[in-house]
Amino acid sequence: MKERSLIIDTDPGQDDAIAILLALASDELQIDAITTVAGNVPQPLVTDNAHGLLALTGREDIPVHRGCERPMLRELFTAEYVHGPTGVDGTELPEASVATSSKHGVDAIIDYCLGAEDGSVTLCPVGPLTNIGMAIAKEPKIIPRIREILWMGGAFTEPGNTTELAEFNAYVDPHAAHVVFTSGVPLTIFPLDVTHRALMLPRHIEALDAFGTDVAVAAVGMLRFYERYDVDKYDIAGAPLHDPCVIAYLVDPTLFTGHAAHVAIDHVNEETIGNTYEIADAEPNATIMTEVDAERFFDLVVQRVGSL
Ligand code: BDR
Ligand code: CA
Repeated sequence: MKERSLIIDTDPGQDDAIAILLALASDELQIDAITTVAGNVPQPLVTDNAHGLLALTGREDIPVHRGCERPMLRELFTAEYVHGPTGVDGTELPEASVATSSKHGVDAIIDYCLGAEDGSVTLCPVGPLTNIGMAIAKEPKIIPRIREILWMGGAFTEPGNTTELAEFNAYVDPHAAHVVFTSGVPLTIFPLDVTHRALMLPRHIEALDAFGTDVAVAAVGMLRFYERYDVDKYDIAGAPLHDPCVIAYLVDPTLFTGHAAHVAIDHVNEETIGNTYEIADAEPNATIMTEVDAERFFDLVVQRVGSL
């Protein structure tokens, strides 16, 4: 039985791709739409990649809405140096056989929320928060409809991965993140503090490879390309699998532990822009995840993606 329906807001990205595959493989979750945002690579690549993943899995019934082309205020900063020029280097995804929805991603989020009961909507952004911030700015009536926003982004006690202080999704659109953080929506954050503990080791990739399905072959191709950046940069045995943490938490919240906090983001000073931090003694506006049971997490990812 589906326990939660949700929108995934994403900039695929190999780790975004695994997050989408994990959600597709999870009977507890129903993906009502995918909205895309410029981030790891520009539009239209992120939208093409979302379509390619749905074509690969035979799930083109799920609508794809192309969202924002650039952050709210800043120039788009992309990460081909991590993900390759297509965003999903390491595999070639199939061509879509359906068209992208004519509804913009921001409007798709707004309509989805307005059509739902108060406190019922789950949004899973795993890229820069541009679409979510724009939706809140365009139609603040969506705020009470939202049960929870679960975001991969930020770095609190952990150093940044894009600047010394800033994680990529936070750095790309700190203004949108500020809108979301100050909106009053219930927020659960998966920052580098926790994702850097979810290191995908060669044995995890080999276990997925053993399934030998089309999806497993594509996923392994992407993961083998994706891991080389962090392995070289940090001299570690595997790359952190960031975005799937959000989906794994929805399937099994016992995989993660965190704490309530008041979070904020620097969106003003260029030297520290994108730095996420906690403000002590202020009313909590978020839960920050800090620990993951990595073995159980990878077991879930491998078994479920392998089952597609
Ligand atoms: C985040 O940035 C992107 O490169 C990944 O897809 C992930 O969402 C990690 O900092
Ligand atoms: Ca992402």
